[in-house]
Amino acid sequence: MDRATVSARPAPAGAGFFAASASPGRRHLLGLEGVSRAQILELLDAAALYRERLQSGGWQSDALRGVAACNAFFEDSTRTRISFELAEQRLGAMHVTFGVAGTSVSKGETLLDTLKTVNSMQVEIIIVRHRSAGVPHFLAQHLDASVVNAGDGAHEHPTQGLLDLMTLRDAWDHRFEDRRIAIIGDIAHSRVARSAIFGLNAVGANVVVCGPRTLVPEEVESLGCTHVPRIEDALADADAAMGLRIQRERMEDGLLPSMAEYTRNWGLTVERVRLMKEEAVVIHPGPMNRGVEIMPDVADGGRSVIFYQTANGLAVRCAVLAWCATGDARAAL
Ligand code: CP
Repeated sequence: MDRATVSARPAPAGAGFFAASASPGRRHLLGLEGVSRAQILELLDAAALYRERLQSGGWQSDALRGVAACNAFFEDSTRTRISFELAEQRLGAMHVTFGVAGTSVSKGETLLDTLKTVNSMQVEIIIVRHRSAGVPHFLAQHLDASVVNAGDGAHEHPTQGLLDLMTLRDAWDHRFEDRRIAIIGDIAHSRVARSAIFGLNAVGANVVVCGPRTLVPEEVESLGCTHVPRIEDALADADAAMGLRIQRERMEDGLLPSMAEYTRNWGLTVERVRLMKEEAVVIHPGPMNRGVEIMPDVADGGRSVIFYQTANGLAVRCAVLAWCATGDARAAL
């Protein structure tokens, strides 16, 4: 069986914050590649403070009053779209959300014309999810708005990477050094894996990746991780495991013999998870396919911090929106 034809670098490589911009004053979050440890920690520290506010109940800031944000989701989403919408509301921003259905995209309008139309209505922050890698970079080059990548094809999903780091930092007592996470599954099609690898590298943690030979790009180690072929070796003494969904929507036919075989060889089971350190945690970006890449007793077990991840997602998106709007991630605290 051949390997997936996707490359380890499916979109323009480069600094996640600083793509060439149509409007140099605008701040973008396009990926975690090239983003420094200090920049990541600044966002995580701010997110931790937003989490405190959010947990206190009824918290509402008006720091982004008068700022208009648009969530342009050309692919389905639960966690990312809803948490951006909630973060915009918590920060006092005006916001609209749209996808292909119900807009003139369905009549053949180009992506750029659609988002230039939105931008012309004084929208300052555009959050975009699209199945094509590189779309957020393209928009940042042509729009007078801050662009936040909410997932572009198999390229990056930087706010997911930040919330994964925030979750791991809590589980790891704020120490990334000498920690090791095993990312298991469909590495080839995973924007989540890429953003996690870039972010974890920046903060000093070690990443091993493991999955079917057909779903691990040949040049994956150039991203900054180690490929470990056997799942038992990848998990042994790890400090965390990340399960990944099989990305059927981005996958060619024939890369897997069957889902049953995938589960047998690569599924996160209680027995496999026990190979990790006693205090190690299990994360998953969601949506989970229970019984495929992760067993229900792992997803709901004592090591799972999967729903804690989604709570952290809201806090991270508050920090990112505040940073985009003002240059200060703590501006809405
Ligand atoms: N993790 C993630 O991006 O989930 P959604 O597709 O539900 O946003």
